[in-house]
Parts: sequence; structure tokens; C-alpha cells
Amino acid sequence: MNALRKLSWDWYDGEIPANVEVDETAYIETTFSFTRYRSQVQGGVTYRKAASTYLGTMFDVGPSGRVVLGNYALVHGARIICDASVEIGDYALISWNVVLMDTYRMPRDPALRRILLEKAALSPNRLAESQEKPRPITIGPNVWIGFDACILPGVTIGEGAVVGARSVVISNVQPFTVVAGNPAKQIRSLPKTASEE
Ligand SMILES: CC(C)(COP(=O)(O)OP(=O)(O)OC[C@H]1O[C@@H](n2cnc3c(N)ncnc32)[C@H](O)[C@@H]1OP(=O)(O)O)[C@@H](O)C(=O)NCCC(=O)NCCS
Repeated sequence: MNALRKLSWDWYDGEIPANVEVDETAYIETTFSFTRYRSQVQGGVTYRKAASTYLGTMFDVGPSGRVVLGNYALVHGARIICDASVEIGDYALISWNVVLMDTYRMPRDPALRRILLEKAALSPNRLAESQEKPRPITIGPNVWIGFDACILPGVTIGEGAVVGARSVVISNVQPFTVVAGNPAKQIRSLPKTASEE
């Protein structure tokens, strides 16, 4: 990242927002990842040591949202929808097309959805901020999430857990287990290994 917060290798002519904190060893493939980013808080996204985000990763982060990417966390093309907090632990591996969301954004009531759709259509940036209450999500250290999986609001995934491809995770996942399916259910336990500091 240069002084203008641009990336020399970037195909997209964007910049890293001023309130995004990037460790000097971190890697961002493209600033296109920030085209839906609206966080107003310091550390709206934090990249810790050697954390990385690749093409396809989109930070759809609302004004109060905060995303943390732990040391060596690798996000290989996820959509991160965050109005409160999404924490990704050290050495977590998030595969392509994963959705991590701490809010559904849309109300269940169809009349309220109409209002929101009208607001979005008529606003200059074609966005209407959600009034839904977010529920933070936490991805523990050493977690591996397979491609196309969805992690829904309020979920915590314990250390070392594995989430199968195309799973829909609606409840907490115990550490050192493998879950899969829709809704995701435990299919295995894994031997516990201590995470290194
Ligand atoms: C979750 C996963 C790691 C499990 O692998 P595994 O431990 O070898 O599991 P198995 O293939 O022996 O399957 C065990 C059971 O879980 C089911 N299962 C496994 N993965 C599943 C999935 N993604 N969705 C639904 N069910 C799944 C199997 O059908 C099997 O069911 P059964 O016992 O009724 O026959 C693997 O299936 C997977 O989804 N890997 C994703 C890899 C990936 O995304 N790579 C991207 C590169 S980062």
C-alpha cells in the first residue's frame, strides 16, 4: 500500500479506506473489495499480521460495522455483511463464495421491506441502511470454512472446527468438530490440538 492507500498491483482504481488498519505484512489483492464498505468506525476492517483477502472478497460493512482478520487468516473470496462485528480468528481459512453475515438486513414485514426498497432505489448511492438488530459472529482460530457455506447472524464457530462446503450454519459450532449440511450438523469430532501463540 502506498501513501495514497493504493495497491501497485491493483486492476481496480480504488483505495483502501482511511479507517481500515492494515499490518505491513498483510495482503489485499484488490481494493474492489471495499466498494460496498461504509464503516465510520476506526478499524472498520483490521488486517493483522499476514492476513489476506483475495479477489471476490466483498466488505459490505455498515456505518457501525467492524471486521477483524486475525494473524495469517486467509479469506479467499467471501462476502462479509457486517453491521456490528465479524471476527475471524488467527489462521482461519475461508474458502470462495462463503457468506459471513451478522445481520439479515431486511425486515420480515413486507410493508417495511417496501419502504426500504423505495429508499434504496431513490438514494444517490442506491443504499438504505438497515434498522435490523445485528448479532455478531465469531470465527475461532484455525477454523476452515468450505466453499459456498453461509454463516448466519449470532453464530460462533469454535477453534479448529471445519464447516463443509455449501453448509448453512445457523447455530454455534463446537471446537474441533466437523459440521456439514443445511442446517449444518456435526458429522465428526477432531483431535484437539493446542493453537500456537
Ligand atoms: C466437510 C468435509 C471436509 C468433510 O470431509 P470428510 O470428513 O472426509 O467427510 P466424508 O466425506 O467422510 O463425509 C461424512 C458424512 O458427511 C456428509 N458430508 C460431507 N461433506 C458434506 C457437505 N459439504 N454437505 C453435506 N454433507 C456432507 C457425507 O455425505 C457423509 O455422510 P454419510 O455419513 O451419511 O455418508 C468435506 O466434505 C468438505 O465439504 N470439504 C470442503 C473442501 C473445500 O471447501 N475446499 C476448498 C478449498 S479451501
